[in-house]
Amino acid sequence: MSALNTAVGKVTLETPGMVASGIMDETGESMVRMLQAGAGAVVSKSIGMEPKAGHANPCFTEVAGGLVNAMGLPGPGIELFKEEMEIATPKGKIVGSIAGGNVSEFITLATKMEEYGACAVELNLSCPHAKGHGMELGTDPALVKEIVSQVKGSVKVPVWVKLTPNTHILPQIALAAQDGGADAVVAINTLKAMVISPEFAKPFLSNKFGGLSGAAVKPVGVRAIYDLYKVVSIPLVGVGGICNWRDAAEYIMAGASAFQVGSAVLTDGPEVFSRINTDLQKFMEEYGYDSIASMRGVANE
Ligand code: DHB
Repeated sequence: MSALNTAVGKVTLETPGMVASGIMDETGESMVRMLQAGAGAVVSKSIGMEPKAGHANPCFTEVAGGLVNAMGLPGPGIELFKEEMEIATPKGKIVGSIAGGNVSEFITLATKMEEYGACAVELNLSCPHAKGHGMELGTDPALVKEIVSQVKGSVKVPVWVKLTPNTHILPQIALAAQDGGADAVVAINTLKAMVISPEFAKPFLSNKFGGLSGAAVKPVGVRAIYDLYKVVSIPLVGVGGICNWRDAAEYIMAGASAFQVGSAVLTDGPEVFSRINTDLQKFMEEYGYDSIASMRGVANE
């Protein structure tokens, strides 16, 4: 067994870093490429009920320390995504991220993802700008509990819930997810953000608002995992601004059993996974951690 082996509940991972939803994960081939690069699993782009073109350009821009995007949940829709899952699932673990607009859509999407071979489903209850989706649903604890419990009653695969930092009641929302039967909490999604063009005197993105990701959000994510580790007993997956082994170690020491990398795949390339794996293992050897589990939560008194 390697020191990098870990598990998120029943989902075992050879390496603790997964591809976060939204990056290099909308086609079967791109997901396979990320598995080959050393990702322990890939979380798919959030898939909805119908094919969707997404927002008009500009839907993406760079800012100091990160990126702001409002892609508009583009994707082929759940029926066509079957083809992509058929390519990727024989090569490794794929977590199916789903973005429904109500309980019944989440049930349909989760059932399909399970049928397509996903090792778990991740409920996107946290996109910061999609009307009727994401955090509009995921900031109401009663609705979170209802969605999670209904999905749990419909699939056998583990159900992960990705939460938003755009709330002051994150612990209550995570508890609601746990009460609904969630198998893991994933935190954080992007921070609601805006960029204005002084020349055009208006918001830069066509959608006006977007989500901030990248290095700038890491301390927010680490704080979220640190807080959640105290209040929930289900496993945590840390995500937000992880670029190197230090960032990954911070999340694990705050309480995460595994982590996800998003923006750094774009800025640093898929090699980011092998670099983090090598460097993290070196740190663990030097500091006497023989497993991810032995490091988990050690900064959390
Ligand atoms: C999208 C953007 C996000 O930041 C997110 O969390 C989910 C979806 C998007 O616009 O597609």
